[in-house]
Amino acid sequence: MSSPESPNVRADPVDWDALRSAATAARESAYAPYSRFPVGAAALVDDGRVVSGCNVENASYGLTLCAECGLVSELARTGGGVLVAVCCVDAWGAWLMPCGRCRQLLYEFGGPDCAVRTPMGVQTLADVLPQAFVGPGDSAKPDELV
Ligand code: THU
Repeated sequence: MSSPESPNVRADPVDWDALRSAATAARESAYAPYSRFPVGAAALVDDGRVVSGCNVENASYGLTLCAECGLVSELARTGGGVLVAVCCVDAWGAWLMPCGRCRQLLYEFGGPDCAVRTPMGVQTLADVLPQAFVGPGDSAKPDELV
């Protein structure tokens, strides 16, 4: 069903307030001593489940796991499925744009039509990750290079 709040979303209108609450609750578990920027993420799955995650940082900063990493791990751990709608919230409860790496991560499990609650409104993953990488199939083969 499509609406101004949920364009191109294939499920019933998304309860973004409920997803924000789930993301806010997940944020409470964040481990962010280095950035002091706790993040929570939550998503609606096509079977009605809600999965969530929080960021987990590391003394080796580059090893930090974004909140979306925990979310997709919970998705897999609790039965898989397709992400229908995703949101992230920051320390102040504001909608947070998933980082580039996590847009790719979410694309794997949500596909192009998954709704993302961005600071500018609801968009699809295809909107926020145009020309997503979906595997090596379309790229040039090594012997076609040079
Ligand atoms: N962070 C997320 O959890 N998700 C994002 O999409 C953006 C960034 C976290 C990583 C790090 O712990 C903190 O926010 C500051 O970058």
